[in-house]
Amino acid sequence: MGQMIPEPAPKLSMEARLNGLSKMSQTSSNFTERVIAATGPNAHPRLKEIIPSLVRHLHDFAREVKLTVGEWEAAVEFLNECGKMSNDRRNETQLLCDILGLESLVDDITSKLLASSASETPSAILGPFYRHNAPLLPNGSSIIQDLDPSVPWYTQAVADSAHVTGRVLSSSGEPIKGAIVDVWHAAPNGLYEQQDEAQPDMNFRGRFMTDAEGRYSFYALRPVSYPIPDDGPSGRLLKLLDRHPYRPGHIHFIVSAPGFRTLTTQLYDDRDHYVTNDAVFAVKDELIVKFVPKEGDPKALWLLEYDFVLGRK
Ligand code: BEZ
Ligand code: FE
Repeated sequence: MGQMIPEPAPKLSMEARLNGLSKMSQTSSNFTERVIAATGPNAHPRLKEIIPSLVRHLHDFAREVKLTVGEWEAAVEFLNECGKMSNDRRNETQLLCDILGLESLVDDITSKLLASSASETPSAILGPFYRHNAPLLPNGSSIIQDLDPSVPWYTQAVADSAHVTGRVLSSSGEPIKGAIVDVWHAAPNGLYEQQDEAQPDMNFRGRFMTDAEGRYSFYALRPVSYPIPDDGPSGRLLKLLDRHPYRPGHIHFIVSAPGFRTLTTQLYDDRDHYVTNDAVFAVKDELIVKFVPKEGDPKALWLLEYDFVLGRK
C-alpha cells in the first residue's frame, strides 16, 4: 500500500530545475518553448513575432513527419543549391517559393491587408520576367515587334492576334486619367524576349497611358501556357512530386497612378487547359478573362475588354 502512494516531490532548487530542463527530450514541446524563450528582450519587434511562430511550426513539422538527419541534410543542400544558382537574371529560391505556393499566398495576404474596398482588382505575383522601362507607346499601338512570315510562330500569332482595351477606375468608379498600364507577355513559343535570342529587345512589352476617360488600348496576342524554368533544383522537386511545370496563358500588368496603390496582376485566358492547374498557384477567379471574336479589325481576330480598379493610397 505504502508503495502505491508516491512520496511528495522534494522542492527543487532553481539550478536543479534548469538541469532537469536541459535533460528534457528535444522531441518534447518544452524543448520548442526553450528555443523560443532564447529570444532576448531587445529583439527586433517584428522578428520577435515571426521567429517564435516559425520555430513552433518548424519543430511541429519535423516531429510530425519524423524528419531524419539525412533528410534534413538533403534539404539544406537543396536550399544551398537554389542559392548558388540564383543571380540577377534567375532567382531559384523565389521559384522554389512559387512552386510551394508561398509567393502567391504572401501576395494575397499583403494585398488584403492594404485593400480598402472589395471592388479593387485582385493582385497576382510579379514573376521573374518583368523589365523596367518598357517602351511608352501611344494607345492603340501594338506590343508585337517585327512579326513577318519568317517568324516560326507567325501563323499562330495571326490566329491569336488580340485587341486589349478597358479603363482604369477608382474604387468609386471614377476614371483615372494618366494612369500607366505596363504590360508584358510571353511569345507563342512560351518564351519571354529575354529568354529568347531570336526575339527583338522588349518584344511583347509596352506601357500605355490612360486618356481622359481612363481608357487604355493596345494590340497583343492571346497568351499561351509555358513551363516555368525547370532545369534547376525546383524543376527536380516538381518531377519528384509528379508535378508539371506549366503556367496557364496570361498577360502581366502593373497599373499605377499618382495617389493610388500600384496594382501588380495577371489576366488569364479562360481557354487555357492550365487555368485550373497553375504550377505556381497564382490564378484567381476574378482574373480569368474571356477573349471574344472581333470583326472588322484587320489587326486583331480577338477582343479582350477589362477594367482595372485601383485603391487609394
Ligand atoms: C511568370 O508568370 O512569369 C512566372 C511566375 C512564377 C514563376 C515563373 C514565372
Ligand atoms: Fe508570366
